[in-house]
Parts: sequence; C-alpha cells; structure tokens
Amino acid sequence: MTTTPVDPLTMRRTMGRFATGVAVVTTEEADGVPHGMTVNSLTSVSLDPPLLLVCLTTGARTTRAVTGAGRFAVSILSARQEQLALRFARRGEDHFAGLPVARGRHRVPVVPDAYAHLECEVERQFTAGDHVVVIGHVRDVCERDGEPLGFLGGRFSDVTERGRPVAHWFC
Ligand SMILES: Cc1cc2nc3c(=O)[nH]c(=O)nc-3n(C[C@H](O)[C@H](O)[C@H](O)COP(=O)(O)O)c2cc1C
Repeated sequence: MTTTPVDPLTMRRTMGRFATGVAVVTTEEADGVPHGMTVNSLTSVSLDPPLLLVCLTTGARTTRAVTGAGRFAVSILSARQEQLALRFARRGEDHFAGLPVARGRHRVPVVPDAYAHLECEVERQFTAGDHVVVIGHVRDVCERDGEPLGFLGGRFSDVTERGRPVAHWFC
C-alpha cells in the first residue's frame, strides 16, 4: 500500500469529524492534591466486566497522577459545563483552584453536577505513541438528567436526542 504521511494536525482535523461527548478525567495524588483533564477519547471497552478506556497525553500531570494513584473518575459533562471543559483543558494550571472538590462513593474526586460520572480502578495501562491508554474497571456510576456537551470539528456542540428523551437519575 502506498501511504502518504499523516501529520498531527491532519490526524486531529480528520478525527475531529467523529462527534463525541466531552468528559473530565479526575484523580488525586497520595497527598490529596486533585488533578483533572478534559478528554474526548473516552470509549466503552466491555460491558461484563465493565471496562472503559481513555487516552491521556504522556507528560501531563493528570496522566502521571492517574497512573500513580491507580484509580480515577470520568465525569461526562453536561451542555452547561463548557467553561469547565475549557478550565480542565488549560495546560499547567491548577485546574481545581477555587472549585469545591466533590467525591464519588469511592471517594475519587469528580466534577460536581456532571451529566454522569464513573469511578474506576486502573485495570491496564500502556503507552501508544504520544499517549497512555488507560483501561479502567468501572466500580460505580452516577447519572443525572439534562443534556450532554458535544464536541465536533474542534468546537463544542449541542447533542440532541432523536425520539423520546430518556429521563433518569441514578446515583
Ligand atoms: C474537547 C477536548 C478534548 C480533549 N481530549 C483529550 C484527550 O482525549 N486526551 C488528552 O490527552 N488530552 C485531551 N485534551 C487536551 C487536554 O485537556 C489538556 O492537554 C490537559 O488539560 C492538560 O492537562 P495538564 O495540565 O494535566 O497537563 C482535550 C482538550 C479538549 C478541549
């Protein structure tokens, strides 16, 4: 097969055509310092056992904290949480500065009032290119009513459900 080299910007632009939600991966260091990072690489891996994966850029503080702590949470953001998505995407900042640290049932830091959150233990991790693929075993979930935040073409977007909206609140 003849291949044309695909540069990072092309890769990002083309993959940006795959519409996703927006989530924040959170964890804390042994001394209790919380960390978080906006992601859209979230994927469900397995239903039984319940596994998900996120791809975290190597060298980010949150990546180091997740691999060190061995546990993390994924908060799926609601349509109203665009500012939080931007906050947790700023490199090198104290992302939790001025924010109350909410915790899930397993005491992992989570983003308050998210559309849903899942608390995980790290099941497996491996480096792939410039990211660390982290597979998490989901230990608890919480879902809220509302609308999710979307991401398409490098911008935040609305996600509307076709048909009857499913109303639920499971925590
Ligand atoms: C919508 C959106 C999705 C993102 N998805 C990812 C992702 O899946 N993996 C990743 O490593 N970085 C992703 N980023 C970039 C990180 O959020 C950013 O580099 C991170 O906040 C840096 O964290 P640090 O301060 O811990 O280094 C995304 C940013 C945005 C705005």
